[in-house]
Amino acid sequence: MKFFIDTAEFEEIKAAYKLGFVDGVTTNPSLIVKSKRNLQEVIKEIAALVEGPVSAEVIATEAPDMVKEAHELVKLGDNVVIKVPMTPEGLKAVAILSKEGIKTNVTLIFSANQALLAARAGATYVSPFVGRIDDISMDGITLIEDVAEIFMVHNIETEIIAASVRTPIHITQCAKAGAHIATVPYKVLLQAMKHPLTDAGLARFLEDWKQANQ
Ligand code: E4P
Repeated sequence: MKFFIDTAEFEEIKAAYKLGFVDGVTTNPSLIVKSKRNLQEVIKEIAALVEGPVSAEVIATEAPDMVKEAHELVKLGDNVVIKVPMTPEGLKAVAILSKEGIKTNVTLIFSANQALLAARAGATYVSPFVGRIDDISMDGITLIEDVAEIFMVHNIETEIIAASVRTPIHITQCAKAGAHIATVPYKVLLQAMKHPLTDAGLARFLEDWKQANQ
């Protein structure tokens, strides 16, 4: 499983890429608003900074407008992927964009059927939301398992981006469930690297070294 970072904060992306295990970026309208910057400006800067795919979401809700918006967004960088919501209009847009060779990420996936339909419409990526399913007392990881099984059984090449990843345990569970990618907030990436025994072990090694060399 690969890692993308789920943020529109430039400093977080720079810091995360230095860690060596991040291969892409996802944004959404809420994250762009949080960054307090202009969408085009943010996406252009991120796309220039990183080599991997950068998902930028359309705001339009009708397919022809989504396609127009996508045509503008892809001008911001060769690595820009168009994020499209999982609606009938969204899928119409995905079908057009995929025939044009433009990569898409179908977002707001909450069922295995939605993932299958998006893949058949030509999506490059689908983004099932784990945390938001957990939020309504259901099991987000089961969704990842179901989508991974269906894509495997039917040899579907669309990649699964586990989204709405909120905790380190979600990362482990998504990897076991067969997600190709997890898109993770910076804070959760930092949490996932930590272990109290690593910290205690290092403190002990350094202390022993100091004692022996005094
Ligand atoms: C996915 O691409 C979304 O940007 C994101 O993962 C949503 O996460 P949230 O449910 O924590 O807002």
